[in-house]
Amino acid sequence: MLNRQAFQIPFEFDAQALREELSSIPREQVKETYNPYVDAGDLEYLDLIEPILQQDGSIKFIPNQNLKGRPHLLEVLKHFPSEKKTYRMHTLNPGGEIREHRDNQRRYEDGDIRVHIALQSAAGMETYLNGEKIEIKEGSCWYLDLTLPHRMVNHSAVPRIHLIIDCYRNAWWDALFSEHAPEEQAPFANMSLEELESLQFQLSGFEGSAELTMLQEVALEIAARKAG
Ligand SMILES: [Fe+2]
Repeated sequence: MLNRQAFQIPFEFDAQALREELSSIPREQVKETYNPYVDAGDLEYLDLIEPILQQDGSIKFIPNQNLKGRPHLLEVLKHFPSEKKTYRMHTLNPGGEIREHRDNQRRYEDGDIRVHIALQSAAGMETYLNGEKIEIKEGSCWYLDLTLPHRMVNHSAVPRIHLIIDCYRNAWWDALFSEHAPEEQAPFANMSLEELESLQFQLSGFEGSAELTMLQEVALEIAARKAG
């Protein structure tokens, strides 16, 4: 899938090295997620950055003690040169499910970019966005528009481990989106009404199904322009 709803960000990470660093962090740092979409015990997280109040009253997130001496985890954070508000491990335990829901404003267009990096993947781990199954391979990095309905389920025998990073949109992200997930151009956007009517006339001389489909699309576009 390559569009602004979901696309693979072209960075690969060393999942095993990152898992090893995470497993060396004391277990008591892991907390349970409580929300209406998960059952108790299914979803856990481990924060890797923490908020610090700045002199100007703003909040900046910086690495917490869990990142000390863990260069691979720190490197991931530096890989995305924008301000962040979340950097955490997310673990969906075997048999666990995050039921379908939408997250308000969590998408690029609203300035809020959530990155998923899969650190432990196995058959039976499923991610659905807008009803479509997305294959997230171990070590891969994804952007998902989470204002769309999404759900995750883990039918495997091992935890589904992701790193999650919430970034603020900036020029670096704009460049990445325009290169790897260009905005879809509306069909016929560059044509004038006269050109569309001329195309409609030409297409009406054909009988193929592709021409017929296009003819219907052109007729709809002409009707929409005349209406509005
Ligand atoms: Fe969500």
